[in-house]
Amino acid sequence: MTGTDRSAARYDGALAATLSGVLDRIRNRGAALPLTDSDRLDGSTCLVTGANRGLGLAIARELAKRGAGLILACRSGLDGAVRDVGSLARRPTDVSGAELDLGDLDSVERCVEDLERRGVRARVVILNAGVVPREARKTRDGFDESFQVNFLADYLFARRLLERGLVASDDSAHLPRLVLVSSESHRSAPPIDLAKLGIFEPWGMRQAVEQYGYGKLLLQTFTSELARRTRGVVAVHSLCPGAVRTDIGREAPRWVKPALDLTMRAFFQAPETASLPAVYLACSRAIEGETDVYLHTTRRRAVSAAASDPVLGRQVWERAESLLATRGHSLRAEPPTPSDSKGT
Ligand SMILES: NC(=O)c1ccc[n+]([C@@H]2O[C@H](COP(=O)([O-])OP(=O)(O)OC[C@H]3O[C@@H](n4cnc5c(N)ncnc54)[C@H](OP(=O)(O)O)[C@@H]3O)[C@@H](O)[C@H]2O)c1
Repeated sequence: MTGTDRSAARYDGALAATLSGVLDRIRNRGAALPLTDSDRLDGSTCLVTGANRGLGLAIARELAKRGAGLILACRSGLDGAVRDVGSLARRPTDVSGAELDLGDLDSVERCVEDLERRGVRARVVILNAGVVPREARKTRDGFDESFQVNFLADYLFARRLLERGLVASDDSAHLPRLVLVSSESHRSAPPIDLAKLGIFEPWGMRQAVEQYGYGKLLLQTFTSELARRTRGVVAVHSLCPGAVRTDIGREAPRWVKPALDLTMRAFFQAPETASLPAVYLACSRAIEGETDVYLHTTRRRAVSAAASDPVLGRQVWERAESLLATRGHSLRAEPPTPSDSKGT
């Protein structure tokens, strides 16, 4: 177990989370990322999860404008998203979809198989999809939905893509990049309890933000560990986009929604603006050669002490691997090597 950060309790409820987002926005006003028009991805393939709406759609749109071919990995709204992003790409055929439901581990495996069959080599993978369920819900794999969608399925997807060599740069001058959309809420999550990891326990609306933060803490811990294990092979970055006007609060209670909508309209960033940190981590030449960069909106920050702890990172890595094995999703134990990731 590890301690929480000083900012603990900032995210202990939906209201606190909303206020924190507003405050962060005020604090970061005026800071700009050194993202230039020449930071482009012409001819490269990028895969974005949860790209059918919200932040993911905005990220995919911006990457298409920067010359990338896109694979939109989504569980719904694929046709509309492919049409939308395709209209901004050099050719509409540069954009395609892939079915991916993170609430179903078999769907993750099918998605990887589909990508492998299609000969995909993604120079950039952005794991953006996330969820804030209003209560504990069991997935068909028997895990808590927040735990699985916000962490475990991303862990499986990222490791499987790397294992199969599907994250690969088209030239030796650039490392491929894996970008994970996290949240500042990882700082105030309860400590990671390895003994209870993956065990389903009921919780209700009052714990929704805490559970979301817990999933993001696990994701952030995995991000740091993955960056350590793949140094020199893949660049692994992460970010919190800040408070964004999306459907993330769609499961909030009906009585909260009017106030949430008003606050979002008044203070939250548009997805187009909020997409820029992810786009920067995906294509900026200024961070070429670096790994484990974390951005909170436009600023670089250190992740929480728990998330960067290498002992905890290894334990979470191993525990997640054995949890997946209990569901028939065994992973190759060793980390990918440069030859694995070069691909064709
Ligand atoms: N909005 C914010 O203020 C904020 C702040 C910090 C971090 N973030 C992070 O930003 C990311 C994007 O969220 P958003 O704000 O754009 O929220 P959103 O509008 O609710 O979009 C969430 C996306 O994730 C997808 N998703 C949810 N469950 C999934 C599943 N089981 N399998 C596959 N995809 C699934 C959704 O697909 P469907 O359309 O099919 O549901 C949707 O595409 C998330 O990781 C979130 O945690 C957001």
